[in-house]
Amino acid sequence: MEEIQETTAEDMSFPPSEPMLYRDIQYSQKQRLTVKIRELDRVLGGGIVLGSLVLIGGEPGIGKSTLLLQASRDFSEEGKKVLYVSSEESLEQMKMRGERLGIDQGELYLLAETNLEKIMDHAARLKPQVFILDSVQTVFSSKLSSGTGTISQVREVTNQVFRFAKKNDICSFLIGHITKEGSLAGPKSLEHMVDVVLYFEGERDHSHRILRAFKNRFGPVSEIAVFNMESTGLRAISNPSAFFLKERPEEEPGSVVTCTIKGSRPLLAEIQALVSSTLFAGNPRRMTIGLDRYRTAMLLAVIEKKLGFGFGGQDIHMNVAGGLFIKEPAADLGILAALVSCIKNKSVPSGFTMLGEIGLSGEVRSVNQTLARIKEARSLGFKSVVLPKGNLSELKKEKIKGIDLIGVKSIRQVVEVLF
Ligand SMILES: Nc1ncnc2c1ncn2[C@@H]1O[C@H](COP(=O)(O)OP(=O)(O)OP(=O)(O)O)[C@@H](O)[C@H]1O
Ligand SMILES: [Mg+2]
Repeated sequence: MEEIQETTAEDMSFPPSEPMLYRDIQYSQKQRLTVKIRELDRVLGGGIVLGSLVLIGGEPGIGKSTLLLQASRDFSEEGKKVLYVSSEESLEQMKMRGERLGIDQGELYLLAETNLEKIMDHAARLKPQVFILDSVQTVFSSKLSSGTGTISQVREVTNQVFRFAKKNDICSFLIGHITKEGSLAGPKSLEHMVDVVLYFEGERDHSHRILRAFKNRFGPVSEIAVFNMESTGLRAISNPSAFFLKERPEEEPGSVVTCTIKGSRPLLAEIQALVSSTLFAGNPRRMTIGLDRYRTAMLLAVIEKKLGFGFGGQDIHMNVAGGLFIKEPAADLGILAALVSCIKNKSVPSGFTMLGEIGLSGEVRSVNQTLARIKEARSLGFKSVVLPKGNLSELKKEKIKGIDLIGVKSIRQVVEVLF
């Protein structure tokens, strides 16, 4: 059967378009609704902008519905009218979750419905200030003949909600399931259509969850928030550095602490390395979890060449504890120290944290936001920071007390300092 009619670009433009002279265009700062869950607020860049559409993606069972029902509770307690639509769960099921979250009163409306046009009719009548659709893949538009969850369906659903949000200045959230390949179903086809994309991540066997901003038209990205999943809902973890270092084995070879920057926040993380003789001669394993594997491979090559260690017959496993992902080069020195510590079977002195980018000649290069990183390390009781010499001079005027700063220029020097 022919597809009937998808919403066109023309439908999407509102108000009626007309070219305007740049200097004549007036704008007012869009208002934001703040969310009582402060961590969610921060990831959104300081609240949700009126009339914006936020997509929250995550794997099945990670806690997406919990997070948004909890946010609905807070919005409604503050006197906002909220419509939470679920196309996956019955009203009873939602109420059961709500009881766990301690939803009490307020104008929170629940709707269990899968037909998008009916949902939008209800929404138009109810005129909520906050609108939540759970989930984009299980709602269908009768404008299209294709099946629920197909790319054209999820795009149509997103389109209609987007138009509704913009036209009526409604804060809207869409929940999206992530496929096994890690993309929002309809390979990334929704990300460009919405204002904000957040990903909710975590490991099944850990109770903590990380919410990260992937795209934000109204604020910075790469902000993260850390939550703990408890029976009464998600509880924000206000000191993530302490949380991620909680179970760190001290004085253990192969474990090193570095300080990374996530959005506006410094975050201490533990990098672990395990080097062991391989069973796959000629093709040893190189496994990294939470680190960029190309960057790690480059560092291995630099260590081999400049420090004379041989990794030929060795399997190498690298991990960042707690399910964090660190991409920035400032963690290079941490990776190097973890590897060398493991090979030498000597622990990095306790109270040390490592910062610095490593170049191909084995030089240690400056990193940004050193002051914030050092302060974070100090606040968690670290006594020494090994950092690029290049950063030391700019830090002199700061007169930092309570933590030793050890400047290094080359990776050889790092090894001398640590071991
Ligand atoms: N009584 C409880 N105590 C603690 N945690 C619970 C309890 N009940 C549910 N959970 C947690 O909530 C998670 C499910 O949360 P939620 O339904 O919000 O996830 P979701 O991402 O919306 O899932 P789905 O993909 O099925 O829509 C479960 O994996 C479990 O960890
Ligand atoms: Mg759900």
